[in-house]
Amino acid sequence: MLDQLPAGLGWVLVGVGAIVFVYVVRRFRMQARRLQERSRELEHLSTELIRVNKMKSEFLANVSHELRTPLNAIVGFVDLLREGVYGELTPKQAGPVERIEASATHLRHLVDQILDLAKMAAGRLEVHSEPIDLHPFILDIASEIEPLVTERKLYLSLALSSGLPRVRTDATHLRQIILNLLGNAVKYTNSGTISVRARSVPGTDPVLPGLIKPSQDTTAATVRPWIAIQVADTGIGISKNDQSRVFEEFEQIDAGSRGDSMNRGTGLGLPISRRLARLLGGDVTVESELGKGSTFTVWLPGEPAQQA
Ligand SMILES: Nc1ncnc2c1ncn2[C@@H]1O[C@H](COP(=O)(O)OP(=O)(O)O)[C@@H](O)[C@H]1O
Ligand SMILES: [Mg+2]
Repeated sequence: MLDQLPAGLGWVLVGVGAIVFVYVVRRFRMQARRLQERSRELEHLSTELIRVNKMKSEFLANVSHELRTPLNAIVGFVDLLREGVYGELTPKQAGPVERIEASATHLRHLVDQILDLAKMAAGRLEVHSEPIDLHPFILDIASEIEPLVTERKLYLSLALSSGLPRVRTDATHLRQIILNLLGNAVKYTNSGTISVRARSVPGTDPVLPGLIKPSQDTTAATVRPWIAIQVADTGIGISKNDQSRVFEEFEQIDAGSRGDSMNRGTGLGLPISRRLARLLGGDVTVESELGKGSTFTVWLPGEPAQQA
């Protein structure tokens, strides 16, 4: 009997082992099934989320579009009123009509910007790339902003490096980005100079912002240069803490102090500019010091260096 006990114990152990094994396997299976169910649920939720988000963007795009038509009518008719087409305005009427025009123009600008954002979010903003010679392109934009610069008693300085490679990009979008940055530079600078600079930066340069640093092609022959177009000002500057905030929708620093004047902003120019730049395969970044000025840089992928 004594020598049978260990053998019995052995069988008992085997039995317990088997039961534990079966239990563990069943637990595993159950958990795996539950995990599978959860991941299916999550997948469903995420497609639903994408669908709803797209619907929201499309709704916004449609609404903005519908808002534009009556707004254009308002702006148009107020213009005619101001021009005296319906009779000369009395001095008492001129003030309110001007206020209507300022508000309607602001509203139209806001609606335009929301439409742009909504289109981008819905993936409906198209990119029409074409080869662009940056020299005349930037000169043209600069000459458009020059009257505004002179009016504000500021100076405009251009520094376009001579060996700029061509870029293939969407001219309308790039123009909008640069005009937004120049508009801001003029708006937030009380004295000094607005500088526009453009240069080519090697694809391996450490100054490239994080987002665009990993170049898809690592072979030396295909490393793309980046084009950096900078708009620098000697204006009020942006503190370190606010530098990422200004790229968020509707964010304005000190929005309160600007009142409801005609050139009150929307807080959408920078977010749109950054999204547009990213749509073009680049980015917009900022360097700034409070009270000293700001430098905004538009990064664009250049054409790969030509093999001679
Ligand atoms: N060049 C600049 N210098 C100082 N502050 C700036 C400059 N550009 C933008 N900002 C700040 O970033 C905010 C967001 O800019 P933006 O999106 O263009 O909106 P806004 O319609 O107010 O110009 C501005 O309200 C301003 O506070
Ligand atoms: Mg702006």
